[in-house]
Amino acid sequence: MYRIAPSILSANFAKLGQEITDVIDSGADIIHFDVMDNHYVPNLTIGPLVCEAIRPLTDAMIDVHLMVEPVDRIVPDFAKAGANIISFHPEASAHIDRTIGLIKDQGCLAGLVFNPATPLHYLDHVLDKLDLVLIMSVNPGFGGQKFIPEALSKLKAVRRRIDESGKEIMLEIDGGVKTDNIAEIARTGADTFVAGSAIFHAGQDNDPHRYDSIVAALRAELDKV
Ligand code: DX5
Ligand code: ZN
Repeated sequence: MYRIAPSILSANFAKLGQEITDVIDSGADIIHFDVMDNHYVPNLTIGPLVCEAIRPLTDAMIDVHLMVEPVDRIVPDFAKAGANIISFHPEASAHIDRTIGLIKDQGCLAGLVFNPATPLHYLDHVLDKLDLVLIMSVNPGFGGQKFIPEALSKLKAVRRRIDESGKEIMLEIDGGVKTDNIAEIARTGADTFVAGSAIFHAGQDNDPHRYDSIVAALRAELDKV
């Protein structure tokens, strides 16, 4: 029921393919793929070419988190590159409902992402069309930041709205997730946990797949919920 989604933002890009197979073989569920454009956020990362390159390496879902503005132009490129989920920030799209429709028309699951200060009213008229809601627990742009506790009350509110909708919508948290807070975050209602630095900075040479210990430690915390 709980899904762990390592963010490759904190992986070693000089051996990205190996990092991806290692982290999935270590028991992670989803590859979280952070796309930054040095415009919507002050950082620049990876695009559809990298998504296409990693696609053959795993059957795991690739969860593309777009931190780009505008959004629509790049959506079909990621769909063609093998993305399974495409999420975007409402502030970055002039027509939110249209962008959701575009993502679904391309055969992908659609997600809407909420920055720490973005109000939840963007869900009012589109919740039924979404497959995923992503709550940011840091300001987007960088890995390794500290979890903003206010995200918990937001998670709780979204959990309620999803449950009331009766729809199967994933509730994902992104930013500052570690072994010492993942259980509390799960209790608050998240079912999908992005973790970048917590996982990729905890690789062990002695682990069979480098990340077995840290993924097991995160799962052990989730088992307590
Ligand atoms: C931040 C990204 C996150 C980031 C999380 O803008 O969306 O996915 O990689 O990194 P950690 O887990 O280190 O906070
Ligand atoms: Zn992300």
